[in-house]
Amino acid sequence: MNNVKIKVEDFNFHYGKTHVLKKVSMDIVANKVTGIIGPSGCGKSTFLRSINRMNDTILGAKAEGRIILDGRNIYDDDIDVVEVRRKAGMVFQKSNPFPKSIFDNIAYGLRINGVKDKYYIHERVEKSLRDAAIWDEVKGRLNKNAFELSGGQQQRLCIARALAVEPEIVLMDEPASALDPTATLKVEELIQELKKKYTIIIVTHNMQQAARISDFTAFFMMGELVEYDVTSIMFTKPVKKITEDYITGRFG
Ligand SMILES: Nc1ncnc2c1ncn2[C@@H]1O[C@H](COP(=O)(O)OP(=O)(O)OP(=O)(O)O)[C@@H](O)[C@H]1O
Ligand SMILES: [Mg+2]
Repeated sequence: MNNVKIKVEDFNFHYGKTHVLKKVSMDIVANKVTGIIGPSGCGKSTFLRSINRMNDTILGAKAEGRIILDGRNIYDDDIDVVEVRRKAGMVFQKSNPFPKSIFDNIAYGLRINGVKDKYYIHERVEKSLRDAAIWDEVKGRLNKNAFELSGGQQQRLCIARALAVEPEIVLMDEPASALDPTATLKVEELIQELKKKYTIIIVTHNMQQAARISDFTAFFMMGELVEYDVTSIMFTKPVKKITEDYITGRFG
């Protein structure tokens, strides 16, 4: 495939004795949306967290194989993990703003990365909020607590927070599953905008959503990558019967 941003090669992941990801190999294409689908417990979140080494802190967790980002295996001993996490930002199922002002939520990542220039911070905060399509709704109340925002706004705020440190990849774990249809639509539209600048990987349980927003779809089952293709093919003529059964809701 052309324009590969992330190359996953023979990747295995274990939580203690539990072997959760099994020999996963896939190429993730830059500036596209890659959807990850599969039954609960199949390893989708583990896979997503493996891409920015968020699983590192879990006791007994062990990764084998390679995840190559911009030509470097992020599991190499001499890799800068902080830089990996800057490059691959994450958005979670439940929006999790900090108990701080809207402004400080976005500025936080910059400040912990040592940025002190106030003018630059202001510029990044505005840019990130604009990119996350929430600027117009918050520009008049940047000093208000983030908890005063609606659920859908909080989720877009969290997307803005992920964008503030200028990542290249945005990992999204069911980012719209706690939102109502209107807020979901906003997040979906936003994802279409974001892929122009970022490589997006999104876990979703919603098959219609996967079909709508992802360019590529990967189907996982029990830790294995069962099938991976262009979304239109996955949803119309998947190669494996089990993929078809899952997509059409016959199980899972
Ligand atoms: N911190 C952990 N410690 C031990 N086992 C874990 C941990 N996190 C996940 N697991 C196990 O790893 C397997 C995969 O979990 P994971 O959260 O990746 O699944 P998932 O596909 O995201 O599921 P869901 O759709 O329910 O979110 C499960 O069997 C789970 O119990
Ligand atoms: Mg999950």
